[in-house]
Amino acid sequence: MKKTEVKKLTLEEKISLLTGADNWQTESADGKVRQVFLSDGPSGLRMHDLKNNYATIKATALPTCHVLSYTWDTDLAFEYGATIADECIIHGADVLLGPGVNIKRTPLCGRNFEYLSEDPYLAGVFGAAYVEGVQSKGVGACVKHYCANNSEADRCHQSSEVDERTLHEIYLKPFEMTMKAKPWTVMCSYNPINGIYASENRKLLNDVLRGEFGFDGLIMSDWGAVHNPVRAVQATLDLCMPHRDDSAGLISEAVKSGKIGEAEIDERAQKVIDLAEKAERAAVKRKVTTTAEERHETAVKIAKEGIVLLKNEGNVLPLGGNAENGGQNKYFVLGELSEKPFISGGGSGEVQTAFVQKALHEHIAEKTGAETKYRNFCGWEPNWRDIYGDAYEADVTILPVGHDRSVESEAHDRSSLRLTPEQEDMILRVAGYAKKTVVIVYAGSAVDMSRWIGAVDGVVFSGYAGEGVNEALSDLLCGKANFGGKLTETFPLSLEDTYKGGRTSDGMTDLYDDGIFVGYRYYDKEKKEVLFPFGFGLSYAKFEYGDLRIEKTGESDYDIVYNVTNVSEAAGKEISQVYVKDVLATARRPEKELKGFSKDLIAPHETKTVRVHLDISAFAYYNVSLGKWYAENGVFEIFVGGSSRNLPLKGKLYLELPEDTQYSVR
Ligand code: GLC
Repeated sequence: MKKTEVKKLTLEEKISLLTGADNWQTESADGKVRQVFLSDGPSGLRMHDLKNNYATIKATALPTCHVLSYTWDTDLAFEYGATIADECIIHGADVLLGPGVNIKRTPLCGRNFEYLSEDPYLAGVFGAAYVEGVQSKGVGACVKHYCANNSEADRCHQSSEVDERTLHEIYLKPFEMTMKAKPWTVMCSYNPINGIYASENRKLLNDVLRGEFGFDGLIMSDWGAVHNPVRAVQATLDLCMPHRDDSAGLISEAVKSGKIGEAEIDERAQKVIDLAEKAERAAVKRKVTTTAEERHETAVKIAKEGIVLLKNEGNVLPLGGNAENGGQNKYFVLGELSEKPFISGGGSGEVQTAFVQKALHEHIAEKTGAETKYRNFCGWEPNWRDIYGDAYEADVTILPVGHDRSVESEAHDRSSLRLTPEQEDMILRVAGYAKKTVVIVYAGSAVDMSRWIGAVDGVVFSGYAGEGVNEALSDLLCGKANFGGKLTETFPLSLEDTYKGGRTSDGMTDLYDDGIFVGYRYYDKEKKEVLFPFGFGLSYAKFEYGDLRIEKTGESDYDIVYNVTNVSEAAGKEISQVYVKDVLATARRPEKELKGFSKDLIAPHETKTVRVHLDISAFAYYNVSLGKWYAENGVFEIFVGGSSRNLPLKGKLYLELPEDTQYSVR
């Protein structure tokens, strides 16, 4: 197809392209440019049927992205993106508005369920794989929300005050890493960064994203994030979404008055045309390769890989009996979440699924063959006597608890990390009568369990795990599958233990004076205990680590080689993690940083040799004086293990880069 030259359009037509035609489509410039249909994700197609009074189209509700990240499996991230892309193709969306790669700076953020990690490296590898998956189907991705949009409170006006180094090392890093997948689009965030709105922040949009990161696609605004269409064009924002009546007039005025040159309009309009032509070229090759059933199965598979086992005292799990727990054959499930589990947080990322799940207690009864009693829990008028009696008679009592979109959603943050007092009371009261208790938590980010976790035997963090959660969860609980998921965010002991107790805003600005010490980097620096560390997750299998070798394969390339042995009778997947510490750094650096990982299926009593490659990015930090990433010669310690706080293997290497790459040499 011919390439539309922006020169052939009138100035008016070019300017018309710089805002949407409506809520979801780009403009056509009087029919000369193909319209592009944009639609939400990021955990499934969330599209409004323009021909059916905006009703939300039913789609496959995959586990939300935080559960995807708990799989630590980038192949699944690819499959995840490709799965959603199939439904984009079916319903005619050209660009999927995902992934969200914002860093989980505080567990209070209402949109953490949509994001990937507190660690920029992990968020970056997952973001890139997700984009590759979506775009492998000829559908565009949209990496969002650029940038430093790490809480929902007053997200449209509160400025994120972030220093240069922290921006690059923590908040920009996932966007930079996602660029390797060549995303078609990036979405700028609502918030100002250091006092300038993202939509008119030329330094971040042009100098950093386009210049430093080499992004050559289209930059769109978040919906309603443009405060001034003229300043947005001057900052090189290409597309103001959604449609804005006054955009064309204001921009035309600015051209007339010389505030904006026609060459700038041409550049911005060409990006819209390029996107349209990319979509047009791709559309003819798009092919749906999955059925609705297969997409549902993918939702189940990813949930199974991402749900995390946090506590399993006395091997209360798996249900159905095992050598350690002497067999169990009577279960009691209390609470309506067994029938209607929370599968997502709220807002633009919430997918409407048509899939009706079988209740968790029905799955358990089927998969264990055991008597499984169920009671809905009427919080306001519970029949405690009967509840206590059922708990007392059962071998294991299962309590599904958590909170829904009213607590975790776009546009607002949580004010507490705890369950409701009623739920905490219910857990403690029932556990007082139960022989054994397993609590299943449905939430989109870290939960403070400290008040009740000591009173129960098992805890499973289901997260918001999509339409297949009951099938996946029951397989895991009943031992038909093994837990392998691990947390990609720290679960602190309390909100008070988080940086400034989560109160970093003065109402006008959010001061990022925690700097690079975010997530485990913060808890390490403060030497704080946590409820569950970054990278933590249990399994029915048990793994031991040994034989660490560090092999230099290039000037700044190393292979970290080690053995992982499954010392149990259960097959299982182990996510081993590699952390790096710059021991004698001239700049202040974290205690350790995740720089590699591997997920390996290991049979009982099998030993697997794992090899993780590190390149110079594993040693470098962002040096503001140099205005670039910089690796300093010297000794680096390497830690390997099953979580950020369980690193049994330790080694060291001496980075010896050429003298002329070094500064401030002592
Ligand atoms: C919302 C969200 C963004 C979403 C867009 C369209 O406000 O911030 O993630 O893609 O608007 O719904």
